[in-house]
Amino acid sequence: MVQQFKLGGRTAWLKRYDPDNWLRPSLVRVWNALASRLDLMALRSPPRYSGEQAKNIELRRLEALRACGAPVPRILGEGPRSLILSDMGPTLAHRLKRLKSANDADILVRQTAQAIGKLHRHGGYLGQAFARNITVGDTGVGFIDFEEDPSEIMSLAQAQARDWVIFTTGVGPYFTDRMDVLSDLIRDQASQAEPQVAREVHRIASRLGFLERAGRLLGRKAAAMGAAIGAIRKGFATLAIAAVLIDVLSDGDCDMWLAMVDVVSHAAT
Ligand SMILES: Nc1ncnc2c1ncn2[C@@H]1O[C@H](COP(=O)(O)OP(=O)(O)O)[C@@H](O)[C@H]1O
Ligand SMILES: [Mg+2]
Repeated sequence: MVQQFKLGGRTAWLKRYDPDNWLRPSLVRVWNALASRLDLMALRSPPRYSGEQAKNIELRRLEALRACGAPVPRILGEGPRSLILSDMGPTLAHRLKRLKSANDADILVRQTAQAIGKLHRHGGYLGQAFARNITVGDTGVGFIDFEEDPSEIMSLAQAQARDWVIFTTGVGPYFTDRMDVLSDLIRDQASQAEPQVAREVHRIASRLGFLERAGRLLGRKAAAMGAAIGAIRKGFATLAIAAVLIDVLSDGDCDMWLAMVDVVSHAAT
């Protein structure tokens, strides 16, 4: 649970590391089994903890990221199973939902992709690079939400590939008719990525290629999934479907999850 409040006249965030609801661990198990079966190890959900354990992971990750020069919140206070974090400004998700023009989306996404690229070049990784876990404020891009650590179950190259997959697909819905623009924005950074990372992103994209065919076979269901299926037809955005799957593990829509499991199991058999 995360709450905004005022501390000495400034905005701050109280983050409490409560246990997940009952559904999430089951969804995570199903997703991890599916991702392993599809050889998409980088897309598995890292172990999730609660209480002091989760807090300590977030503390450790924030410290490691700061050491890479990454823009992350400062720790303003600490309590049992909770931290007080400095404000990083509005999230990218918030900004994208209130766009004045498509060009603004391009600027925000380019700016963010550059920040992720820079973090990666300094040896860092995010883990849950969704637009709701990235901030774009007056002082630039910031990164939040580190109570999981992908390095528990994957290599650095996999974790960085995971960032590109999650980030690209997460912002995909804002580029539904302009996937080529999104591909170009991301490609600028992808071209500077370590070869191992680029190879892993491409490998994941081709592993998910079957979803495009499944979408066509299951005409009506594909239509119900709209933009996600449409987006997978283009370049990097082939990965749109993965974001939907990963997203439900946090706070997504379970109906969408069930529909996706249905499509994936049809396609995989
Ligand atoms: N330091 C921060 N600066 C700005 N917004 C924040 C900050 N911490 C949390 N938030 C807001 O609270 C939301 C949830 O926080 P997050 O750390 O992502 O926790 P959760 O594990 O619940 O996703 C974020 O999506 C963001 O809107
Ligand atoms: Mg979050």
